[in-house]
Amino acid sequence: MPVIKFIEFDGTEHEVDADGGMSVMEVAMKYDVPGIDADCGGGAVCGTCHCFVEESAGPLPDVDPQEESMLGLRPDRESNSRLSCQLQVSDSIGDMTIKLPEFQM
Ligand code: FES
Repeated sequence: MPVIKFIEFDGTEHEVDADGGMSVMEVAMKYDVPGIDADCGGGAVCGTCHCFVEESAGPLPDVDPQEESMLGLRPDRESNSRLSCQLQVSDSIGDMTIKLPEFQM
């Protein structure tokens, strides 16, 4: 079972076991990790589940056009920005370290 380490903006860490088939956003919600709002519930239309993938054991899937359009609205976007609702936990990606932005917008 992959392990996800979430790091809040203030440095607080949460290390949790992640079930395959869930999105990173759903894992954060399940374990009450603060810092992800997910206003649209995972539909890739709000952008309030923005995160930064600091590390992953395996390669990440490409950003699809819908995710790209939402990330494009984030002024705090970085090269490792992703929408956590679009990132599915899997054995091929494996363990991840996810940093959370200062706030969602
Ligand atoms: Fe709305 Fe991810 S939860 S874009």
